[in-house]
Amino acid sequence: MAWLMSLGFVHLVSLLSLGEAKVLSDLSDGFCRSYTFGANIVNDVLYMVDLDGGLIPGDTNSSNNYLVQLDLSSSFSTDDGEKYKMSLVDSEVPKIKGQALWSDKANTTLFTYGGNYLDVASVDQGLWTYTIADGSWKLQQTSIKPVRLQGGAYVDAPQIQAAYWVGGFQNSDTTPAITDSTVDYATGMIQFNTTTGTFTQLDAPFAPVQQGALVYLPIGEKGVLVFVGGEVPSIQNGINATLTPNQWNYAWVYDIAGNKWYNQTTTGSVASRTQFCAVVEKDLSTSSYQVYVIGGADYKSKDSLTDVYVPIIPYRTIQPNTDSPAPIYRSHRSNGFKPRR
Ligand SMILES: *[C@@H]1O[C@H](CO)[C@@H](O)[C@H](O)[C@H]1NC(C)=O
Ligand SMILES: *[C@@H]1O[C@H](CO)[C@@H](O)[C@H](O)[C@H]1NC(C)=O
Ligand SMILES: *[C@@H]1O[C@H](CO)[C@@H](O)[C@H](O)[C@H]1NC(C)=O
Ligand SMILES: *[C@@H]1O[C@H](CO)[C@@H](O)[C@H](O)[C@H]1NC(C)=O
Ligand SMILES: *[C@@H]1O[C@H](CO)[C@@H](O)[C@H](O)[C@H]1NC(C)=O
Repeated sequence: MAWLMSLGFVHLVSLLSLGEAKVLSDLSDGFCRSYTFGANIVNDVLYMVDLDGGLIPGDTNSSNNYLVQLDLSSSFSTDDGEKYKMSLVDSEVPKIKGQALWSDKANTTLFTYGGNYLDVASVDQGLWTYTIADGSWKLQQTSIKPVRLQGGAYVDAPQIQAAYWVGGFQNSDTTPAITDSTVDYATGMIQFNTTTGTFTQLDAPFAPVQQGALVYLPIGEKGVLVFVGGEVPSIQNGINATLTPNQWNYAWVYDIAGNKWYNQTTTGSVASRTQFCAVVEKDLSTSSYQVYVIGGADYKSKDSLTDVYVPIIPYRTIQPNTDSPAPIYRSHRSNGFKPRR
């Protein structure tokens, strides 16, 4: 009898561990609340990286790190998780939050850059790439090894084979080299060529900055970047910097081909905010581009500003190049889990 009981016990244990080791293949068990995961749309497929299994219903293992894919070309519903396909991110790839997820012009590769470690920060190895065709992960070879920054603003511009990151900082969540509460703010901007793997450090006219949003407008020879919002630290490198939110009556505009920054006055009104999303829409009636900001929170009160949707830059000062119109591009930074359409 004792023998039977212990056999039963062993059986139960192995069933339990089998259950725990289950790796999910889609979100049929339900959605989770998650934040600051990397997101991008490539070839009409939405990719979301760094979804922690510990937060996902049906999975209890916080060591699991998922990539979720949703085909936007067919109908889907946020009530039905089956179409949200999941695969485990290679365990060699560090688990990071707040990463940028970029893509190449050929729609074959995703790149992750930046962000902060949830556990102990390990030595930064650089960018990781995901090859869509075979689902493989590998370390990207780059011209110079970039440092890992978090809290910057970033945008993907696959049509010109580039991705950009402005501002942000290093701290003990990004590098083991910092062991106290020092925050080392970046100056300038990074350009990553998604075809050649070339990393270029570009100057920016503004002081170190965190957060804010960067969008790409396909105007002129190579397009322009627009940076809005953000908070400026009182010291570039140190402890206990105080942060001052930027005004919203202007935006920084970068002409990519000319490598020049402009301070552009904005029209419209928008409630000052932090950690928001920004998207670009072409207004067909006026052929202008409008930058919308969505969500985020009031910097001081921390009240969230969900679902606020305000146009801030009816952008007419630079006329779109109508001879060879570039495709409309929407930039996304997603802070909520359920995507909307
Ligand atoms: C949790 O996930 C990690 C990484 O995917 C795996 O190595 C480990 O075996 C899993 N643990 C359990 C209890 O399933
Ligand atoms: C890549 O995907 C975008 C849509 O996300 C599409 O407009 C573009 O034509 C695709 N490029 C190639 C080379 O397939
Ligand atoms: C990236 O490299 C490709 C190939 O050399 C080049 O054609 C493209 O213009 C580069 N992109 C930018 C933004 O410089
Ligand atoms: C930072 O602020 C903390 C809490 O107010 C204080 O204890 C510490 O001495 C400050 N450190 C520096 C370097 O200013
Ligand atoms: C940009 O110009 C606006 C006025 O149009 C001014 O208020 C703002 O301080 C300028 N920004 C910087 C960083 O110089």
